[in-house]
Amino acid sequence: MSERGNGPVVAETREELAAARASVRGTLALVPTMGALHEGHRALIRRARESADAVAVSVFVNPLQFGPGEDFDRYPRTLAADLGMCADEGADLVFAPSREVMYPAEPQVTLRAGPMGERVEGVTRPGHFDGMLTVVLKLLNLVRPDVAVFGQKDAQQLAMIRRMVADLNVPVEIAGVPTVREPDGLALSSRNRYLSAEERGTALALSRALRAGEAAAGDGPDAVREAARAVLDEAAAAEPPLALDYLALVDPATFVEVMGPHDGPAVLAVAGRVGTTHLIDNVPLRLDGPKER
Ligand code: PAF
Repeated sequence: MSERGNGPVVAETREELAAARASVRGTLALVPTMGALHEGHRALIRRARESADAVAVSVFVNPLQFGPGEDFDRYPRTLAADLGMCADEGADLVFAPSREVMYPAEPQVTLRAGPMGERVEGVTRPGHFDGMLTVVLKLLNLVRPDVAVFGQKDAQQLAMIRRMVADLNVPVEIAGVPTVREPDGLALSSRNRYLSAEERGTALALSRALRAGEAAAGDGPDAVREAARAVLDEAAAAEPPLALDYLALVDPATFVEVMGPHDGPAVLAVAGRVGTTHLIDNVPLRLDGPKER
């Protein structure tokens, strides 16, 4: 266990984590991350600070949530810089375990995300939500926070974690923090660093499509989908092209597609690949039912 000047205590083993956890006075908020921290994570840590007396950040690239051929091996690992941001933001504890600490043996018992995990992002990334929920539950059991903070950029992840906590009676409050964007609209993501300048230009179509859909929210679900689709079709013909994985307009709690007239909240979600980089984005919307003519 190490302490960097006034920086956070860094725990790498379960024993070090248990000792650091035991010394926390008052309530604790956890920000689970895979590292490569950016301004979006900074917003999560700030929210955690507001929610509890002490803040823990976990940094672990979870092999269970990556499918074959995904970017597990090249996922950016930048622990020294991550610790710098945690220190700047006044985090008290960083849990940075190795794979062997998190998974001392090949896990036999893991979580199944159920039908919600097979929708939308789950169609293009089968098994992803099973692995994600398994590690989040392990982190909650190890760190035992009062509050856990997640970004709304991974809207389906956040909805699934809320559902897991409700279904399995996990004693933790879940907080969601709005997506942080670049001035041109690109949602911040640890994967943005893979993009060339040209690829980044194409990737902007994701947030543009969401804004176009949002602007059509008063005209019903079909209009929202059509407005977003028009932007994505253009990007599919651009150089380099966007290879769309999905465009979905869904119920925010279940991620079931919204069909027909709909009054109430929805999420417009989009994902695609530019070059070899998988990007996702979403925007919460309020849909109005059919108007009186
Ligand atoms: O959002 C992430 O960074 C990861 O999915 C999480 C929640 C840390 C689990 O590995």
